Amino acid sequence: MINARIAGTGSYLPKKVVTNLDLEKTMDTSDAWIRERTGICQRHIAAEGENSSDMGLIAARNALAMAGIAASAVDLIIVATTTPDKIFPSNACAIQRQLDIHGCPAFDVQAVCSGFVYALDIANRMIRTNGAKTALVIGCETLSRITNWEDRGTAVLFGDGAGAVVLQATDEPGILSTHIHADGEFENLLEVPLGTRHMAMNGNAVFRKAVSTLGLIAAETLAGNGIEQDELDWLVPHQANLRIITAAAKKLNLPMDRVVVTVDKHANTSAASIPLALDIAVRDGRIQRGQLLLLEAFGGGFTWGSALVRF
Ligand code: ACO
Repeated sequence: MINARIAGTGSYLPKKVVTNLDLEKTMDTSDAWIRERTGICQRHIAAEGENSSDMGLIAARNALAMAGIAASAVDLIIVATTTPDKIFPSNACAIQRQLDIHGCPAFDVQAVCSGFVYALDIANRMIRTNGAKTALVIGCETLSRITNWEDRGTAVLFGDGAGAVVLQATDEPGILSTHIHADGEFENLLEVPLGTRHMAMNGNAVFRKAVSTLGLIAAETLAGNGIEQDELDWLVPHQANLRIITAAAKKLNLPMDRVVVTVDKHANTSAASIPLALDIAVRDGRIQRGQLLLLEAFGGGFTWGSALVRF
């Protein structure tokens, strides 16, 4: 049986850091409100001319370096992004060109904050059915470009960045299962409305739906694999709001020291947030080889999904 395992992780954050105190100067908000309601203290913002594919490329190169795999071995590139450089060609094709590899399939996936889990699901299936042996799965976002900086209800929540994993065909267990879902019914609660370029959100309604849905997807994943919650080593959740993450951990009975939290430093980087958080915790030594990880996400669409991973 062919499996897919994570052979390496990588990430990239733009240099510019915008703190809550910086935002206090430009809008009617406060550091105290943002910390208390979201857990966010700062976010990274892309420089002018720095695009999501540029960040995804660096994250991908870092993941390949950790895996000790040459770019020439890559035979599939999937990029999850809501903020591609251009409508087309895709960010995946832009990254393929920059890596100087030619001919392998390369495409973007648009599932907003759940995009990375969707991309992982597709790459895992392609590897398992012999469609690829070495896949780059990347999440990269320049959300600052679709943020309305005059709307304090959303502007404080988002940041830019990228994360990536190299998935490799193996006999050993790696990606144990993936679970993806969507319900377009809730389009109006979180969207870039037609004819506009900025996100609009009913934060409170999204919050409540996110908490209940993440509980269901975690239960579905554990039941699907016949495992108990205390067998999990780490929860690596999408980083939207510390209160959502804490509620998800509580439902799983997991202490917060087994939850990877980066929302304080990165804010919500949508499709980039899970691979970014994963890479941070792998590189600082918290996540070790052989451990059991639950990745889970919820976002615009609504879309949601999870992956159970033997790292
Ligand atoms: N600074 C100060 N006050 C603010 C700010 C701000 N930045 N933003 C809103 N407020 C005010 C509101 O105006 C409101 O004031 P009022 O009571 O006088 O009317 C008050 O704070 C409370 O507002 P709520 O929206 O009810 O606050 P809530 O506790 O729900 O927190 C938040 C808002 C942080 C947006 C929360 O609802 C949330 O995190 N929602 C989920 C976001 C999410 O997960 N999105 C999904 C992923 S994103 C994606 O897919 C692209």
